[in-house]
Order: sequence, then structure tokens, then C-alpha cells
Amino acid sequence: MTVDLFKEFDNVFTAIDKLRIFFAPGRINLIGEHTDYNQGHVFPAAISFGTYAIAQKRQDKKLCFYSLNFPETGIIECDLNDLSYKQEHGWANFPKGMISYIEESTIPLPTGMDILFYGDIPNGAGLSSSASIEMVTGVLVDGLFDLHIDRHDLILLGQKVENKYIGVNSGIMDQFAIGKGKKDHGILLNCQTLDYKYAPIQLDNYSIIIINTNIQRILAASKYNERRAQCEQALSDLQIVLSLESLGNLTIGQFEQHKHVIQNKVNEKRAKHVVFENSRTLEAFKQLEKGNLNAFGLLMNESHQSLQSDYEVTGLELDTIVHTAWGHPGVLGARMTGAGFGGCAIALVEKNQVTQFKQQIREVYHKKTGNEASFYIAAIGDGAKEITEGVI
Ligand code: GLA
Repeated sequence: MTVDLFKEFDNVFTAIDKLRIFFAPGRINLIGEHTDYNQGHVFPAAISFGTYAIAQKRQDKKLCFYSLNFPETGIIECDLNDLSYKQEHGWANFPKGMISYIEESTIPLPTGMDILFYGDIPNGAGLSSSASIEMVTGVLVDGLFDLHIDRHDLILLGQKVENKYIGVNSGIMDQFAIGKGKKDHGILLNCQTLDYKYAPIQLDNYSIIIINTNIQRILAASKYNERRAQCEQALSDLQIVLSLESLGNLTIGQFEQHKHVIQNKVNEKRAKHVVFENSRTLEAFKQLEKGNLNAFGLLMNESHQSLQSDYEVTGLELDTIVHTAWGHPGVLGARMTGAGFGGCAIALVEKNQVTQFKQQIREVYHKKTGNEASFYIAAIGDGAKEITEGVI
């Protein structure tokens, strides 16, 4: 399907000013799950799916939002003088939150805007459609009003929207991957210092396939916040005997030596996942740099195993897909990606086996869960930016 953004804008609004177009991708996480809010390492990449926003400045102080993905909600209107969260504004709370925090950290915007959004990231699939809409709004406002906001600051504002405006206690990974993504590269990010390095993703005869469970992530936000609280509790138990800032600073040796001070067995498992996942992430980066895809694949598998048994965020759907992938001869590694509780898995699949792979996953998944899986090839793209092409 092609979408002509100029034409769509004209159907909804009256163009009175020069229209400009911005894009922010979604992301996959190669490895390093639930480590970001523990100040550990993550290794995500921006993908070629994302959110487009075409906009103009208005002459008054109104903000008018429209999404081609939610035509039923029509134009959602508010005023720059009241950017508070409103339940009835639904998806538009993401851009509203971003605009509100940009104003707070820069200047009050002189005029309102008409903005039309279009996203091709499957909704609720755990590929960060919400961070993508936050970041596209960020680069758009920055560009339209010449604010020259530092990219790191914009990323932090995106996370603040999620944490304070929407109320999900997420880490920095999604906004960072989307804000700093680079075509054909993964980003190894130290979530404590925000130091990062790019690694070229050269997969030779392999492709990264994204597999969507297509199940609603019910209670994902509350379970996510619960995991985070369990990690905080484990940290505070460990701090009785160790001088430690975060679980991300804990070595495997220290964990083994002191794990008995963690009061609760469940919290101990959560901490174990974080410590080992952090170390796997650093190792995975090294292996990918060396071009050792076999070793990389094995680390992906270990990551899933740990997310399944110790962090307990996978569930029947993701496990069925990943375990079936592990048994396929063309697969070097597979794991869930993102927060879990549904959403997507990724697999490193030999190119000439992709068709057969999809067929097998589709069949087994349907038989075991009654659901249909969808598949996308992950093309690794650039981070959020202005674009000129209006037909996509
Ligand atoms: C979600 C959050 C991220 C990260 C992942 C799990 O995507 O938004 O900050 O915590 O889950 O790794």
C-alpha cells in the first residue's frame, strides 16, 4: 500500500504554510532485555518501519492531531495553554506529552500546529510504536521551530513522557534506539552513562526475521512496573552488604557470592537474569563485531531461556514461536524482543530457508495457540529525522 502524505494532509486540513515531513523508526532489541532500567547494557537497532508526521504551523495556538491509523477518532484538538493528559485524547496524549515537555525545557511555542501521523509499525507489537510517535513529534517540533535541541535531551524527554505523562516506568532503550539509530548498525548502549558504540550488522546469508504473536499485551504495563519494583527490592537487599549503585554494576562473581542476602527467591531470579543478561549483551556485541554469528545466535537463545525461567515475561505464545524456531535447521538463534508478555520474537534465519521457516512457525503456532503469526524482515534503518519524500 502506498500513502501520499501530502494528499492525505489536504483531505484533513487546509494547507496554509509549507508542509514538512518527519520520520521516526520503531526498534528491535537484538539482546539485553530488561537491563536498561537496571543501568546495564542493551543492544537495539532502529528498523525501517516507523511513524511519519506531516505538519504545518498554524496562526493560532491550537494543536490539531489526526492519525491515518485511527481515523475513527477524527481530528483531536487541544490548546497550547492546556497540554494536560486527557483520557479521551487517547493516542494523541503521546504527541501532547512530548510538546508539553519540549516547551517546559525550551520556550513556549509561538503558534500551534496541524499534524497528520501515519505509522506502519504493527500496533502493540512491542516494536515501540509509542516511543516512535514521541520521537517523531520531538524532531518535528524541533525542526519546525528551529529549537536545536540536543539529541540526547530529546531522547530523555521522550522517556519522561512515557514515565511521567503516560505512567509506564520504562527505561531509556526505546527512545535511544529511535533517536540514534544508524542504517545497518546495532547500538550497544551503556544505560548508566549513555555511552554508546555502533556495530555493523553484517549477516551474510542470514536475515533477522521478526515474528509477531499478534496477541494483545494484557496488563503488560503493570507487570512491567512489577518487574522493575522487584529489581529495586533485590538491589536494596544487596546494598546492605555491597556498595552498589545498580544491578547493572553487579558482576556475576559478586552476585554468586551475595545472592543469599536477597530476601525473596523471586527477586533473586529477577536479579540473576539482569546480571547474566548484561554480561551476555557485552559478549554478543564482541561476537557480532568478529562476525561470529553462531556464537551470537547461542547468546540469543540463552537470553530467551533466562527471560522465560528467571524473569518470567515470555508466556505460551512467545515460547511456542521461539522453541519452534530453535528446532529449525536454518536458525542460528531466536528470542523474544522488547518487554515480553506477547509482542514479537526475532530469529536469525538462513536466507534460503526463510519460506520454509515461516511455514513451520505458522503451522505449529496456530496448532498450539489458535492464533496467527505475522512475519517481517527487519531492515535496520536510521534514527528519527526530517525527510522529503511524501509518497511512502
Ligand atoms: C520496553 C521498555 C524498555 C525496556 C524493554 C525491555 O520496551 O520500553 O525501556 O525496558 O521493554 O528490555
